[in-house]
Order: sequence, then C-alpha cells, then structure tokens
Amino acid sequence: MKKIAIFTSGGDAPGMNAAIRAAVRTAKYYDIESYGVQNGYQGMIEGRIKKLDTGNVGNILQRGGTILKTARSEEFRTVEGRKKAYQNLRAFDIDGCVAIGGNGTYTGANVFTDEYNIPFIGVPGTIDNDIYGTNFSIGFDTAINTAIEAIDKIRDTADSHNRLFFIEVMGRHSGYIALYTGIGSGAGTIFLPEADNSIEHLMEQLEKSARRNKLFNLVIVAEGNKNGGAIEIANKVNALNADYDSRVTIIGHLQRGGSPTCNDRVLATRLGNSAVEALRAGKNKIAVGIIDNKIEFTAFEEAISKENALNEDLIRMAEILAL
Ligand code: F6P
Repeated sequence: MKKIAIFTSGGDAPGMNAAIRAAVRTAKYYDIESYGVQNGYQGMIEGRIKKLDTGNVGNILQRGGTILKTARSEEFRTVEGRKKAYQNLRAFDIDGCVAIGGNGTYTGANVFTDEYNIPFIGVPGTIDNDIYGTNFSIGFDTAINTAIEAIDKIRDTADSHNRLFFIEVMGRHSGYIALYTGIGSGAGTIFLPEADNSIEHLMEQLEKSARRNKLFNLVIVAEGNKNGGAIEIANKVNALNADYDSRVTIIGHLQRGGSPTCNDRVLATRLGNSAVEALRAGKNKIAVGIIDNKIEFTAFEEAISKENALNEDLIRMAEILAL
C-alpha cells in the first residue's frame, strides 16, 4: 500500500474532518501517501483528486462539515461513471480508498469493488445513525446535542405561553435523532418512523395531561414519520381540537453543522485510523465500526442490507415516562 485516496460522500456530518485527519496522519505514519477526492464519487469521476499532506489536515479536527466537500452522485450509479472513476484512481496509482459516508456511500463502494480491483474501506458518517455495523456513526452525537440546545430554548418559550410545540428533527428513515432528543428534552410524545404513533393516541395523551394539569408542550417528530412532518401533524391535531395554541419548528440543516462534540471527534479519529490499518492489513469491501467500544468490521453487503435498529427498550421507556 503506497497511495490511498480519501473521500466523503452523501450528507456531511460533524466529525468527518476528524476522520480525514486521522486517516491522513495514520497513512503518513506508515509512509503511505494520501490523496483527497473532492465532492465524493462525482469528484472521482471528474478527476478532482489532490495530494493531502499532514499540513492540509492541521486545525480541522474541531471543524464541522468536510474539507473534501461532499455530493450525491447519480453518474456513479452508471457503469460508464464508475469506469471514469476507476481510470482516474489508476492515473494517480491509488491502491486503496477510505470512503466516509452513509448507506449510499457503502452501496457505491460495494458495486465498485465488485467491478474493479481497488480495495475500499467504509467509515460510517451520517447524523442519522442509521448504518448497520456500528453503535454510532460520525455526527450523530453532535447533531443531537445541537438539536437539544434548540429544543431547550423552545421549551422556555413554550412553557411561558402554555403553547404546544411540534418540533421536527432530521432522520429520513431512522428515528434515532428523534428518540434521543425526545428522551433528552422530556418530550410528551416522540413520532418515530419505526413506531406506530397515531394522532388519536396523541389526542388522548394531550387530553389526559390537560385533566391532570400536566405540562405537555413538546412533540418531537422525525421527518420520515408515517403521519407526516411536524406541520402536517400539527394541522391534524388542530383540526381535531382548535383549542391548542400550537406552533411548529423545523430544526433542519442547523443540526447538521457545527463543531463536533468530543465524542464525535474521538469516534471519528478511531474510525479514520482503523480504516487505514484495515487497508494495510489487506482488507476490502468492508466498513469499520465501533460496537461495544471495540473496532469491528462488517462486509458492505451486510451493512447495506441490514438496519441499525432502534433500541426497543428506549422506545418503551420514553412511552412510560411520557405518562
Ligand atoms: O442523511 C442525512 C440527512 O441529513 C437526513 O437526515 C436528511 O433527511 C437528509 O440528509 C437531507 O438531505 P439534503 O441535505 O440533501 O437535503
């Protein structure tokens, strides 16, 4: 292993820079040259590949986003696109890649490594925490801390006016962000893509709380919810009972930026380091993860076909505490 390429792909996540830094520094330690591919798979197709030295990754550990930029590439889904990407990697004599991203990133890497003989190691980076093969993905901890800070502020104003707030957090297919921020903020109800929440049940909860004079002013909604986003759910509730003085807040991309928490920095550093160690050890078509605080590897095939399921105990606990 003489030259490796590192790239970030899909949605950015705080801590990706820490993973890039760790990969470059680990490579340097073993006298391996590092190259950065700009804009993920799209940049690979367009040949946007530049040498990365330790100087390029100085002072980035604490920065959100990704210095390599990121993208979602439609062209990489095509045979021609992947061929161009391969030719570009070959032109730089790249003999291994570190792919930092989510499910789409692993899927691309899986197809590519079926077709071409350049090993890829995946590093889980997404705020959604929806990747199988690791307890936590890079960016999740920062995202929930950013969201909780916003939710605490909303709670102050909700409480002062006796208002009911519907707060939408990210997570297209996964309720991780909603579940953690819901528990962390003491929300009355959490609408999860994985659970069978109904508007009727929410109405019952609201009425029960009102009878008991219990403060119930936060409903956390995961964007990928079956009942719709926060606006839709608020409208449904108000259509059934117009007495609730309700408001909606969508936290949106705010929760994807910002300086990574210490947990995310440490996680990303361990994963970035292990990815390079794995390439050196001759591994291919696998993603690195941390399970029960130990580095573990999962084949791309398995990682993309399984879900990082929510902990049922946490869902049950949140329901009990909402009573
Ligand atoms: O996958 C990460 C994520 O932030 C999701 O939570 C969200 O649904 C999506 O990306 C948003 O994507 P985009 O930034 O392309 O709008």
